[in-house]
Amino acid sequence: MSQVWLITGASRGLGRRIAEAALAAGHRVAATARDADRLADLADAHGERVLTASLDVADPVTVQQVVARTTEHFGALDVVVNNAGQADFAPIEDTPAESFSAQIATNFWGVVHVTRAALPILREQGSGHFIQVSSLGARMGTPGLAAYQSAKAAVNVFSMSLTKEVGPLGIKVTIVEPGNLRTDILTARSMTMLPISEPYEQTVGAFRGQLSSQNGKQPGDPVRAAAAIIRLAGMPEPPKRVVLGSDALNFAQEAARELADSDDRWSHISKSIDFPDSTPAA
Ligand SMILES: NC(=O)c1ccc[n+]([C@@H]2O[C@H](COP(=O)([O-])OP(=O)(O)OC[C@H]3O[C@@H](n4cnc5c(N)ncnc54)[C@H](OP(=O)(O)O)[C@@H]3O)[C@@H](O)[C@H]2O)c1
Repeated sequence: MSQVWLITGASRGLGRRIAEAALAAGHRVAATARDADRLADLADAHGERVLTASLDVADPVTVQQVVARTTEHFGALDVVVNNAGQADFAPIEDTPAESFSAQIATNFWGVVHVTRAALPILREQGSGHFIQVSSLGARMGTPGLAAYQSAKAAVNVFSMSLTKEVGPLGIKVTIVEPGNLRTDILTARSMTMLPISEPYEQTVGAFRGQLSSQNGKQPGDPVRAAAAIIRLAGMPEPPKRVVLGSDALNFAQEAARELADSDDRWSHISKSIDFPDSTPAA
């Protein structure tokens, strides 16, 4: 069945691949990007099945306008892909407040604005699906990416709460957590490499070296990732969370084991703070 999709950050990378895959599957797409001129080829190729719009997800007023225009134009809104994202790379101590704020504005507030703008429409329809593109890094906390990964972790928890609030209203939510995808994300076009002061060379600097050497060799294929997202949107009961890529799966399982081990190891401290006569919550 043909669905109406709204995709953020569709100028390039994963967002562009999702837009192409949704159109190839016969869906109608509101493709959005900070500069709508970058979407002209999609509009030329797919005519009335595409609506293009300039959208910076950090701007809540434009978000409202674009969501309203999409629904007016297509008469419905079925799948909302919160894909736009951006990271700067620097130690926490060296990250200017403006950079920290801008990353939270795009990666977290952007998801909040788009989700809140679409919610009344999906709620009135009694159907719809939010696909929240987070990052496996949100489970790890790697040096140099604190602002970006904090925002993605916030997206995870926001979306877990959202699932519980809107599930009974017929609305689905899937958090997608990619590992390393071969897109622009590690290039200067997407990631600003800020200066690293000497004390952080051993941690942040070393990790920057690893990241740079991965550029262009990432194991995850954005075309296959987009195909997986199209499949998820067609499922009657999609997963609440899914990691994308074998690398992501390995890291996710390792992080879950480490967390469970740590909780077990320190459980005597955890339990020590209860009132002696209290009954633990289930
Ligand atoms: N690639 C990976 O390894 C990886 C791993 C985990 C998670 N992710 C997540 O996957 C998503 C897609 O990333 P990607 O790999 O495709 O990166 P990318 O190639 O750098 O593309 C990022 C996209 O986001 C857009 N964007 C950035 N800031 C925006 C804003 N304020 N408003 C609207 N659009 C904005 C960019 O638009 P412009 O063209 O205007 O800059 C671009 O279309 C992101 O959420 C990213 O965090 C990626």
